[in-house]
Amino acid sequence: MRNSIVLLFLISVSVFVYAGGTPDFVTFPEDYKSSYILYHTQNRANNKQVADFYANKQAVESIKNGELADGSVVVMEVYKPELDEAGKPVAGVDGLFKKSKLAAIAVMEKRSNWGDQFSAEDRTGNWGYAIYDAKGSIKENNLDCVSCHKPLEKEEFLFTFEYLGK
Ligand code: HEC
Repeated sequence: MRNSIVLLFLISVSVFVYAGGTPDFVTFPEDYKSSYILYHTQNRANNKQVADFYANKQAVESIKNGELADGSVVVMEVYKPELDEAGKPVAGVDGLFKKSKLAAIAVMEKRSNWGDQFSAEDRTGNWGYAIYDAKGSIKENNLDCVSCHKPLEKEEFLFTFEYLGK
């Protein structure tokens, strides 16, 4: 009995401490691969990974009017690149790193009806954040999603805003 209480405690603490963003609110969009639009691909700013960017219909349609609507979801698939013998990423003729393994799936979701439980400090405006592994399970990490995205208020908190509108 005592062991199971300790175990439960440990499980809840680890989900709390290590989950990037708030996956209890921003759930994994199971169907993104089949129903979202692939709007961009680029090597990541860290120069160590390459990413595919997907957006759902609401996002792609509403950005034409200048503002992303409620229900917009944006997904970044992060891939490890192929490495050469020196351990450097191998790029194709287009400059993009050649993809190896899918390492993570980062999700941003915009809603105005999150409810009081979802602290405004864990969001940028109405955008919530969460990161998942390649199978769509919660990925343990301690990234502060809000800190990097917050300054991009004019771009809807999206680094790839300009590509989404194209
Ligand atoms: C160190 C700064 C930083 C942190 C922390 C960060 N991001 Fe980002 N994020 C970026 C950058 C830069 C991009 C653009 C792609 C790239 O170069 O990595 C990006 C792109 C994205 C995108 C694609 C939409 C867009 O903005 O272009 C999503 C979705 C995303 N991040 C989710 C997350 C989630 C979820 C977390 C927390 C688990 C997180 N980010 C933490 C810097 C950050």
